Amino acid sequence: MIKKILVTGSSGQIGSELVMALRTIYGGENVIASDKCDNASKKIKSSGPFEKLDVLNYNEIDQIIDKHQVDAIVHLAAILSAVGEKNPMLAWNVNINGLINVLELAREKKLLRVLIPSSIAAFGPTTPVENTPQKTILKPTTMYGVTKVAGELLADYYVSKYGIDVRGLRYPGIISNETMPGGGTTDYAVAIYYEAVKSGKYECFLSENTNLPMMYMPDCLKATLDLFHADYTKLKNHSDFNVAAFSVTPKLMAESIKKYMPEFEITYKPDFRQAIADSWPNSIDDSCARAEWGWQPAFDLDSMTQDMLKVISEKHKQGLI
Ligand code: NAD
Ligand code: SER
Repeated sequence: MIKKILVTGSSGQIGSELVMALRTIYGGENVIASDKCDNASKKIKSSGPFEKLDVLNYNEIDQIIDKHQVDAIVHLAAILSAVGEKNPMLAWNVNINGLINVLELAREKKLLRVLIPSSIAAFGPTTPVENTPQKTILKPTTMYGVTKVAGELLADYYVSKYGIDVRGLRYPGIISNETMPGGGTTDYAVAIYYEAVKSGKYECFLSENTNLPMMYMPDCLKATLDLFHADYTKLKNHSDFNVAAFSVTPKLMAESIKKYMPEFEITYKPDFRQAIADSWPNSIDDSCARAEWGWQPAFDLDSMTQDMLKVISEKHKQGLI
């Protein structure tokens, strides 16, 4: 039975919320948050342990596993697509060498479980764009995508070669209101809500009809926890589960916002991230996740928009943003 979980990269967009969700299940003391910088929020630091941990340092991870008697790792430390295109070698180093450190330690220490997110960035321009299957062409054109494909292959290798329980899911763009995203192509879908509340307008770095798969954070947490807790014996796949919620263009997202803020205005000024977005699918077939571990999302675009605007407006009223 899993008792102690180490979360790497826990100060990021997903980690900052996943750590709290894991702590409500396992207890604060049993979920060790960690990040390369000593930058965790007050909430994270006051509800359980936090360790400054660079995943490129094998010995440091080793020591923290021993110190806390860790038996499972949720490995979130990564460089995302837009930052990765600006610094491909950094993306390669963190996403590949950090991952192999975690997998090797899982093997050496006989850890019970490792969860490693992949991304829709594993797909590329030659992948079918609509209802993209789980098993399909994986020829990404970004360094981030290359590391995600290699990561999925490495994770599956550790499953088949060493019998380690490694699981992974391909997140779509994640939309949330607690921690800002860390430099991806789908970041517009968070910024648009903040700017709508703060200034009533937003200039989007993707063109109006760029259709991408997205998911609201409560569904991202649910997908992650559901896969983490799924019965291993029922999994036919391991590291590459497609998961989907809804697909949206900047134009449709702006229309959704206008339902609640009719005065909202959007303009478009595509930059280098447009080419990244154009290489990714429009929509995702997540039937394997539905069949093997019962995946089902709760939020659609409008229910997410209502919640995002409510939470961000409250933060704005309190002077927090
Ligand atoms: P993020 O960029 O918000 O957070 C990543 C964290 O990793 C940051 O806090 C950063 O400080 C940390 N980090 C970077 N280098 C490190 C190192 N060497 N050692 C330790 N920590 C380091 O990312 P996120 O959005 O929380 O993503 C988490 C995982 O989910 C990643 O694997 C990412 O590829 C994947 N994912 C995210 C999205 C999304 O939309 N957020 C979509 C698809 C996949
Ligand atoms: N949201 C991520 C990015 O844009 C997708 O993996 O990089």
